[in-house]
Amino acid sequence: MKKTILIVDDNSANLYLLKSLLESSGFDVLEAVNGRDALDMALVHPPPDLILSDILMPVMDGYALCRECKSDERLKYIPFVFYTATFTDAKDEEFALSLGADRFLIKPQEPEILLKVLDEILAAEYSAQRPHPRPLGEEMEFFRRHDEALFRKLEKKMSDLERANRQLAALEEQYRLSFENASDVIITLDAEYTITGVSPSIERMLGYKPQELMGRHYTDLKTIVTPESIKKIFADVNLIRNGDIIAASVYEYVARDGAVKIVEVSSSPVIRDGRFAGLIAIARDITERRQMDRERQENFDRLRKSLEATVRAMAVTVETRDPYTAGHQRRVAGLACAIAEEMRLPTEQVDGLRMAAVIHDIGKISIPAEILSMPRKLTATEFSLIKTHSEAGYDILKDIDFPWPIARIIREHHERIDGSGYPNGLTGENVLPESRVLAVADVVEAMASHRPYRPGLGLGPAMDEITKNKGILYDPEAVDACIRLFREKGYRLE
Ligand SMILES: [Fe+2]
Ligand SMILES: [Fe+2]
Repeated sequence: MKKTILIVDDNSANLYLLKSLLESSGFDVLEAVNGRDALDMALVHPPPDLILSDILMPVMDGYALCRECKSDERLKYIPFVFYTATFTDAKDEEFALSLGADRFLIKPQEPEILLKVLDEILAAEYSAQRPHPRPLGEEMEFFRRHDEALFRKLEKKMSDLERANRQLAALEEQYRLSFENASDVIITLDAEYTITGVSPSIERMLGYKPQELMGRHYTDLKTIVTPESIKKIFADVNLIRNGDIIAASVYEYVARDGAVKIVEVSSSPVIRDGRFAGLIAIARDITERRQMDRERQENFDRLRKSLEATVRAMAVTVETRDPYTAGHQRRVAGLACAIAEEMRLPTEQVDGLRMAAVIHDIGKISIPAEILSMPRKLTATEFSLIKTHSEAGYDILKDIDFPWPIARIIREHHERIDGSGYPNGLTGENVLPESRVLAVADVVEAMASHRPYRPGLGLGPAMDEITKNKGILYDPEAVDACIRLFREKGYRLE
């Protein structure tokens, strides 16, 4: 027949584990959460075959339960086993056994050991031999020893709690130190958006003390935030309420002294038990960083303007010496940029190309003016002299620290992708993309316009030239883009 064990413990996890173990080992199990419940249960049901009880429990503890059982004629023969974690003293066990308990086991036990002990106690043989429950001492003696035993257990429990408390305090101290010393400002809000925490660094950032903000509703921030920013804060708070994390929002705060501070804030919701319980935000003053960024940008813009002015002055120098190509560089620059944009080259590259194109023939200042303006076709010697202009242009510009490869773009503007160009006979991708675009624009402009030795040929022959040599001399994408510009987009050389 199945034996029934009554287990008594105020901890539901303990009850659950014990119940699972015992049921899977073939016992029926009754459960009680304190001595009083256990007693009622033992009296109402058919009495259990064994009682397995914890000691410290509310309402009625294990000692009192054991004493009640052993004093009751109906229950006194039921084996009683203490199973307790808070064993502190041999006296506890002695007291338990003096009450008539069969065993005093300390948690946790290996399941096999616990089951073996229970089997032993339940064995018929054992029951036959079991001694008569010892008579209990005087009533007062019981209470004295009961109180002592409980007191020892409570003391142990208190010291455990104290140790846990000390650990908690150490953790709290660590948290407090980071909170107080962080240079960023940490702000916490509860679910109603009341400010519940502000780290002291707020005073360095805005000149307010944490106490001035604590306990206020976040809408009160509108007195210290610019109107634009408060709108953004309201919108962000709504997003956070819906579970979003805001990685870096930038707001403008107004410090106590009236200075506007640019503050970057990262915030996330605080979720407790699956519900929105508030939010935590970390704010960093980036006013100086912003200011530095702005100054850097201004410096860069200034530098760029002065570079552009220098380049324009250089272009004029070339063109005054060489009136026939006057305007050539400017028109080439316009067309080259249009082609590059049509090809969707990055803006940075287009900017560099423009600067290079405006002075791409600057090397011609090292060639005698008579040759440049010769009103006839050039001899081979004269032409080889002209060909030095791209390398000469490179030499003039190579030491200037442009943010773009201006000197190289110029050196390679007469290279051809089949390697037939000059000065280095570079092929394909070895020629800078800007130079490949510049080459197409240069050829088209040169053919279409008037030259010292011949009138302008017009656009038709220029288009024929680049179409015929597309992919041979000229970059195919640049050619396609150039043809689209003239044929479909109404581009004109001006
Ligand atoms: Fe050239
Ligand atoms: Fe040119």
